[in-house]
Amino acid sequence: MAAGRARVAASILDADLGNLAHAVGRAERSGADRIHLDVMDGHFVPNLTFGARTIRALRRRTRIPFDAHLMISEPGRYIDEFLDAGCDSITFHVEIDEPIEPTLRRIHAAGRMAGLALRPATPLAALEPYRALLDIVLVMTVEPGFGGQSFMRDVATDKVLAARGYIGHRLHGGEVHVDGGINRESAELVGGQAADVLVVGSALWVRGHDMGREIRLVRALADEGYQYGLNAGLPPTPRDAMITLASLPRSLASSLADELESGGIAVLLLRGDGARDGDEPEFVVLIPTAAEPMARERYGDRLAELAETAAAAQAARPPTAFAARRRTDR
Ligand code: DX5
Ligand code: ZN
Repeated sequence: MAAGRARVAASILDADLGNLAHAVGRAERSGADRIHLDVMDGHFVPNLTFGARTIRALRRRTRIPFDAHLMISEPGRYIDEFLDAGCDSITFHVEIDEPIEPTLRRIHAAGRMAGLALRPATPLAALEPYRALLDIVLVMTVEPGFGGQSFMRDVATDKVLAARGYIGHRLHGGEVHVDGGINRESAELVGGQAADVLVVGSALWVRGHDMGREIRLVRALADEGYQYGLNAGLPPTPRDAMITLASLPRSLASSLADELESGGIAVLLLRGDGARDGDEPEFVVLIPTAAEPMARERYGDRLAELAETAAAAQAARPPTAFAARRRTDR
């Protein structure tokens, strides 16, 4: 996993469509964080690409996540096929003429991330009715339909940072994606607008170019933009880094995990060590690093209380046979 904050999704739209299996493998080996799959129906956009069957076939070729970007008029009709194909996230356009909410809910019901995309001219306010259901906002900085177009700088400045407001309910894990004309010229600007995922298409598939270097450059430039634009010159924290918030006996750790989860903080509970001398094993409560300040502020008292309870229980526990034996051995 890359250090730093920004993630790069490789769009295979401009890859050799005769050998997509090779393209996804190459993107993965070159360090792409995700594969971005542009599905077009010749109706919502004046171009046709591939559908769920192709995605399903590619799914076996790489382990990195698949982000589907559906530029189609009827996502509701095909959504189950895209879910079955193994997409990790599915984003479709807010400009379609069919109900949007049921499709977002279907994506969530399948345990995947759901997003809405905006054409350059569509205002962010179009997302308003769906904001509680969004994990991803995809800001298009070219007209959807084709790779290799020029980056629309004004659209990025207007919308990318402001799009965060629509995923604010997702304390962690919500993502702003920027798609269209991203390359080493535009990466710094969108990074400085806190874009989480930069979709890069044509810039990756230039004959004779080292794709890995291109991906590293785009990511590094985006992080520079963030660091100097929004993070007071400090290096950005990787969005997927985790830290240990507490280490507690199993029952206390799992009740803390429940409390954090119900407060919207993602938690990983891992068995730690601490089973020495027959003690109850410790469990480590991990949370996203970016959530730490907020978690300490909101749950600081609770953490102190749990630590005391754990210490009191530890002190009250009679030594186990194993521990007692070791003590008499001394
Ligand atoms: C355009 C697609 C993009 C496209 C980006 O409709 O949504 O994902 O592949 O390609 P570039 O990076 O060339 O603009
Ligand atoms: Zn796209």
